[in-house]
Amino acid sequence: MNSKDKIFDLKMLNHFMDQKIESDSLNNDLRTMMRYSLEAGGKRIRPALFLAVVRSLGGTINTSTYTTAMALEVLHTYSLIHDDLPAMDNDDLRRGKLTSHKKFGEAQAILTGDALLTYTFQLLTDTDFDGKQIKELVHLFATAAGADGMIAGQLEDILGNNIQYSLSELKQLHLNKTGRLISLAVETGIVVSNSNISEELRSWYKEFGRNFGLAFQIFDDILDVTKTSKELGKTANKDVSLNKNTYVSILGLDGAKKELNRVIQQCQYAITQIRERIDFETDSLEVFLSDFKIDGEIK
Ligand code: IPE
Ligand code: IPE
Ligand code: MG
Ligand code: MG
Ligand code: MG
Repeated sequence: MNSKDKIFDLKMLNHFMDQKIESDSLNNDLRTMMRYSLEAGGKRIRPALFLAVVRSLGGTINTSTYTTAMALEVLHTYSLIHDDLPAMDNDDLRRGKLTSHKKFGEAQAILTGDALLTYTFQLLTDTDFDGKQIKELVHLFATAAGADGMIAGQLEDILGNNIQYSLSELKQLHLNKTGRLISLAVETGIVVSNSNISEELRSWYKEFGRNFGLAFQIFDDILDVTKTSKELGKTANKDVSLNKNTYVSILGLDGAKKELNRVIQQCQYAITQIRERIDFETDSLEVFLSDFKIDGEIK
């Protein structure tokens, strides 16, 4: 069982996403291509993390919450389709299936990504949150995904294919390309929970999100060299073949594992700080850290 299933029903989210994308007014060819990538599987980490934060703050889980969770997954799925394009990482396999451009053609994959990105914002406006919350959500999504967030990280990643970054440059790249959407899931959880939390508590949530996002990409770098394509559902050893800057290329495998450990400990510390300041349960946040398993062991 996926560990996230212990804290909420992933099947419910998948069912919700199916119904929503099927009932919205969309061009049918685009709908088919959007659904192909969206429903290919995927761990649903970002929506799960978002729902865990809402729960930890005693927020309500309703249709608007699910719509926001879906927006996070739709945004992430767009980023994967474009990341896999021939001009980017040129990948044939994603979520255990052919990548969008391999299946439908390059122009179609670009447009499917575009459609998912715009659909993300349509979803946010389909919620029943008040105007101030929706404005805040749109701002958070746009800044996390855009030219000062994920796209900036993707550009740094691509520019780095032929130059060697320092560890601190790579850390910033990872915080942008992957960390920002993960931090977005955490910050979005705070916005929809309607709770007037202290600035101190907010900053511990942010600290957790930032470190979790960094850990997630360090782990992805490690998986690239330790797992098979079958296990990953995407091509293994891809970073090496593209000459990417990764934690493994800079620190070696053991060094990357040590650094991952250090960052996980920072996540754990942030959870401890959050726990001291809230009345609801934080176990659901801790569950995410148990996913960082290397060779069967945690950390
Ligand atoms: C893959 O993300 C891309 C990275 C940011 C490392 P995930 O590992 O969350 O991919 P899915 O959603 O499970 O396919
Ligand atoms: C992808 O990073 C980050 C985004 C999609 C923004 P990677 O290129 O390392 O992700 P994978 O390994 O292809 O999933
Ligand atoms: Mg990439
Ligand atoms: Mg890639
Ligand atoms: Mg990768």
